[in-house]
Amino acid sequence: MSSNPAVLQPGTEVAVWTSFVRFVLAWLRILGVWDALKYLTEALQSISEVELDNVIENVIDAVEKQPLSSNMIEQSTVEAAVQECSQASDETIENVFNIIGAFDIPRYIYNSERKKFLPLSITNLPAPNLFGTARDKAELFRERYCILQQRTHRHELFTPSAVVVHPDDRRSKFQLKTVESLLGNTAKVGEVIVLGMITQLKEGKFFLEDPTGVVQLDLSKAQFHSGLYTESSFVLAEGWYEDEVFHVNAFGFPPTEPSATTRAFYGNVNFFGGPSSASVKASAKLKQLEDENEDAMFVFLSDVWLDQAEVLEKLHTMFSGYSSAPPTCFFFCGNFSSAPYGKSQLQSLKGSLKALADIICEHPSILKSSRFVFVPGPEDPGPGSILPRPPLAENITEEFRQLVPFSVFTTNPCRIQYCTQEIIIFREDLVNKMCRNCVHFPSSNMDIPNHFVKTILSQSHLTPLPLYVSPVYWAYDYSLRVYPVPDMLVIADKYDPFTVTNTDCLCINPGSFPRSGFSFKVFYPSNKTVEDSKLQGL
Ligand SMILES: *[C@@H]1O[C@H](CO)[C@@H](O)[C@H](O)[C@H]1NC(C)=O
Ligand SMILES: *[C@@H]1O[C@H](CO)[C@@H](O)[C@H](O)[C@H]1NC(C)=O
Ligand SMILES: *[C@@H]1O[C@H](CO)[C@@H](O)[C@H](O)[C@H]1NC(C)=O
Repeated sequence: MSSNPAVLQPGTEVAVWTSFVRFVLAWLRILGVWDALKYLTEALQSISEVELDNVIENVIDAVEKQPLSSNMIEQSTVEAAVQECSQASDETIENVFNIIGAFDIPRYIYNSERKKFLPLSITNLPAPNLFGTARDKAELFRERYCILQQRTHRHELFTPSAVVVHPDDRRSKFQLKTVESLLGNTAKVGEVIVLGMITQLKEGKFFLEDPTGVVQLDLSKAQFHSGLYTESSFVLAEGWYEDEVFHVNAFGFPPTEPSATTRAFYGNVNFFGGPSSASVKASAKLKQLEDENEDAMFVFLSDVWLDQAEVLEKLHTMFSGYSSAPPTCFFFCGNFSSAPYGKSQLQSLKGSLKALADIICEHPSILKSSRFVFVPGPEDPGPGSILPRPPLAENITEEFRQLVPFSVFTTNPCRIQYCTQEIIIFREDLVNKMCRNCVHFPSSNMDIPNHFVKTILSQSHLTPLPLYVSPVYWAYDYSLRVYPVPDMLVIADKYDPFTVTNTDCLCINPGSFPRSGFSFKVFYPSNKTVEDSKLQGL
């Protein structure tokens, strides 16, 4: 699952030989020991030419740094140095490209006393289970809340200013209150801001809920900042409280935070997942590979209806177009059938995947150099509509994987780590679902994609919706987190294609391939640009 053959370009042989000579000279100078030299020559034979240059430099560095007890360098010292270096270089290759399924995402829990995210392993919580407990359900919204609360508290709007030059300056900073702090009051409480979740406990009556309590809302005079204010989304409600009702003057979302800010606060924790022990953002080597590999290219398609002859024809056209410069990876999102699968669903999907494999095999350069990642759609065979959705069953995909070895069938949602970039992919018709479940639909500004992206990033969650609208395995709710903000968010939605940038995150929707006149999106990681593509009529 690691490096793509096209990702790492081999170095030139000349460089290898020059460095080999330099290496022999350096070693004779340092050691003058024939045995150690012999050992090293053998040890380095197993290292690929691409890496040899770096490894040799590193071995020399490492040996020089070793505390030497005598003038003689023992073979064990050399062995340790070689091992350390070859591991480091393996690690870099392994860390270039990874597909991370939803069930493999690390779980971090915010600890408000220590003001830190702690990995599940050092908390005393049980490991997640698909058959969640009541505790998991209670934890789910509390955890969504805690993430937003720590982020909001850190925002400049809410941090107390160190120096108050003029009494009025104090007013420019706001204080966050809890629901509980309102409920006890018999007198009117003016000008407060509360972070809470919008709920509808009774038809047509809205409430604001936080871990300390629930208060009824009066929204009749509320102004709404931009965003889609869905039921079960978290808001900053500004207003006044009197007679057990919170009268809202304005609704805003908790402010977003660029991932660089989150990382400045929490260090190099790898929240995202994948083999790297620290955040890939910390690796200068991966950053260099990312910048240098200008040919890297990701292609995103959604609603790849493999049962339709026209779709297969268009894919054929697309592969032919790319055969001289194969993309690094094709991301194919479901539904993989245009019609309900019916009784023979498994057999028919196996058949259409075989048809796709045959088309790929007709383009040997693509078969050899490109990867294929499959993200299942809401109607593909699987256990209903609960998220996260597991990959398509192995017996459906087995034949395809034999014919197209660089293929991965993963979960929905899933994550991709490429060099230092983090990408979340989610196949769901989310835009319309969220619009339908809004407390208030944006009236003046009809730019839905902007409202939508702002909502997802400020909620730090892929489905800020009630559980009856978007069911989630309670104990795996954390796999739908969008925090820290990724470099790219791919929402594969049948809504019209879009590209929106917000909070240093590139958010794209490739749209439905067949329904949008065969549109798709192409992403170049080296310069972080997205191109709109479309296959013209035959
Ligand atoms: C980004 O890089 C790709 C591939 O090298 C290139 O085709 C494209 O024109 C570049 N886009 C911009 C805006 O620089
Ligand atoms: C999956 O495809 C079927 C057939 O087009 C369609 O009825 C269904 O709405 C699709 N599901 C989603 C969520 O797009
Ligand atoms: C795949 O395995 C499942 C059980 O795991 C079985 O119900 C199904 O019939 C199998 N499908 C095929 C196409 O073999």
